[in-house]
Amino acid sequence: MSQISIHPIAGRIGAEIRGVELGTELSAENLAAIQAALLQHKVVFFRGQHHLDDARQQAFARRLGQPVAHPTVATVGGTDYVLELDSQRGGRANSWHTDVTFVDAYPKASILRAITVPAAGGDTVWANTHTAYLDLPEPLRALADTLWAEHSNEYDYASYKANVSAEQLRRNREEFTATVYQTEHPVVHVHPETGERHLLLGHFVQKLIGLSQADSQQLFSVLQGHVTRLENTVRWHWQAGDVAIWDNRATQHYAINDYGDARRVMHRVTVAGGKAVGLDG
Ligand code: SIN
Repeated sequence: MSQISIHPIAGRIGAEIRGVELGTELSAENLAAIQAALLQHKVVFFRGQHHLDDARQQAFARRLGQPVAHPTVATVGGTDYVLELDSQRGGRANSWHTDVTFVDAYPKASILRAITVPAAGGDTVWANTHTAYLDLPEPLRALADTLWAEHSNEYDYASYKANVSAEQLRRNREEFTATVYQTEHPVVHVHPETGERHLLLGHFVQKLIGLSQADSQQLFSVLQGHVTRLENTVRWHWQAGDVAIWDNRATQHYAINDYGDARRVMHRVTVAGGKAVGLDG
């Protein structure tokens, strides 16, 4: 393969990395370049990783840390860590979120591989939660600095997923909430590697602690609106064989559900992270 090269895509987030195969013996130097690009650009993309299969995807995840299975959803048969998102079985993550924030120590990274993609549509969008924090007007930032949020996997599945039958939604709800998890995180956390401040929100937030449900919902919408501003995002149009890796401590993402009954299948492996640390340490 040719020399590794990094190509920023949007102004605030996202870069394509060319010249590497993730499933082969990746040199320590190239791995370090990928990790540095991930911290800088928050989400990195690789085209044409057709040589990857589930085993190689898991093996690559091990180079980034300890892979971790989804807490409630069964992994793909024969794998320890691969989560399948199949549009024909309700796997449409079409609401803004950070992965698995309903547990105390949520994943630090996710690696998503496109298996089957629709002829048109099915893009994913990521948002930079650090620049969202910096965008807040000073009084709002001062308020966010003091807040904590309750996160749970018992969120409202029905409110998003068009093209999913009521029966499929019921099955997903049962599977995703087989065990109910609930935890609290600071709304502003300090990234353990970059020291940057990030908003930690997304669809698993049940409420902002200490506020009424009505105030909580309104303030959540204002803060979340800063995360999802288009200027703060990057959009990736998938081809089969593509891989995206995102820093789950620094981003939210949204899988656009605009492909009707066409099939979209993605395989995801997440890498274990730690507890979010707020401004008070
Ligand atoms: C996810 O939410 O992790 C999956 C995103 C996607 O399917 O594009």
